Amino acid sequence: MKIELPKWYDLHVHLRQGGAMESFIKAQISMGCAGVLAMPNTSPPVTKVFESDTGDGWSVESYADMIRKAGGSAFLDFIVPLYLCGKTTPEMIENGANKKVLRACKYYPPHGTTGAQSAAPLETYINNGVFAAMEKTGVVLCIHGEEHGLSGENYFGRDGNAEETFYKKRMPEIVKKFPKLKIVCEHITTKIAADFVQKSGPNVAATITPQHLLFTTGDMVQGFKYHLYCLPLLKFDRDREALRAAATAANNTKFFAGTDSAPHVKKATDCGCAAGCFTGGYAPQLYAQGFEAAGLNLSDGKAQEIFKRFLCTNGPAFYSLPAPKETFTLEKQEQSVTPLQTPDGAVTPLPLGVGHSTIPWSVQKF
Ligand code: NCD
Ligand code: ZN
Repeated sequence: MKIELPKWYDLHVHLRQGGAMESFIKAQISMGCAGVLAMPNTSPPVTKVFESDTGDGWSVESYADMIRKAGGSAFLDFIVPLYLCGKTTPEMIENGANKKVLRACKYYPPHGTTGAQSAAPLETYINNGVFAAMEKTGVVLCIHGEEHGLSGENYFGRDGNAEETFYKKRMPEIVKKFPKLKIVCEHITTKIAADFVQKSGPNVAATITPQHLLFTTGDMVQGFKYHLYCLPLLKFDRDREALRAAATAANNTKFFAGTDSAPHVKKATDCGCAAGCFTGGYAPQLYAQGFEAAGLNLSDGKAQEIFKRFLCTNGPAFYSLPAPKETFTLEKQEQSVTPLQTPDGAVTPLPLGVGHSTIPWSVQKF
């Protein structure tokens, strides 16, 4: 069985910096990506729009340049969101948007994930005019929806977790105060988040990763498969069912692909584990596997149409990205999975990390 699809956009991926960036971009292109949204939690983070803005960190302008030079000029288009921090001003947003360099901003919960130590609490942007400037100019808010600073039992407990708290308490306030703000609830993992997105207006959408469609906490804990450790953490079967239902609904316009592929050359550290699953090179295949696990028969034309909407069309429509004319082919044929060699060391793709040296789907390579 072969499915020909338009090239797709990965609307949440970590391309990092330095010598390995080229390898990560190649991995994206190899799986039919027409473009990406490249996350700004680099070292240093992307906290300015223009080089001429005051402050430390890279600018959207200069990071985009690095991406282009490392092979990203092959992309039809790509977005670099601005990393929101205490130094972000409404003027930066308006100026960046007016000059068409700024299309999105990223909220990280302070210290809540890899590279989130430069972030400021959500209230900062609610009160200092940053969200208002984004709402006014149509700049998309990419949101890592987890409450920060919680104690262990509230961070991940039987009766709730950081994501659920965020979607119950924070998101209602944001959409109430900024009703026209375009928001992407990134890498959602819970039924509560999926329901929130579902019942919000058309200006609120969400990305879902392959790992959250395929696995649960139990899969990670059994044998402690640390390659499944990413943030937000995998959740429970009930949550995975809600994500599968949202992604595979016949009328889905709000849920789309954003892999959160987050390479770590050193995944296990001396006293813990870096958060992030790497799916570069294998994501459409894993999404197809997730859709099958959700009960869709991908040899059926209607199911293919639903898959296409999730992988290829909803995302670029939300972000107003150009529709790719080129296509790629996904085939139900076993493909072997190998580590990605980079100048910084080898990175283990997720399937290998959970003990699978082959996956049921393959893509025609680019
Ligand atoms: C990401 C990373 O490694 O940069 N890790 C992750 O677990 N997803 C950061 C992020 O997007 O949260
Ligand atoms: Zn991420």
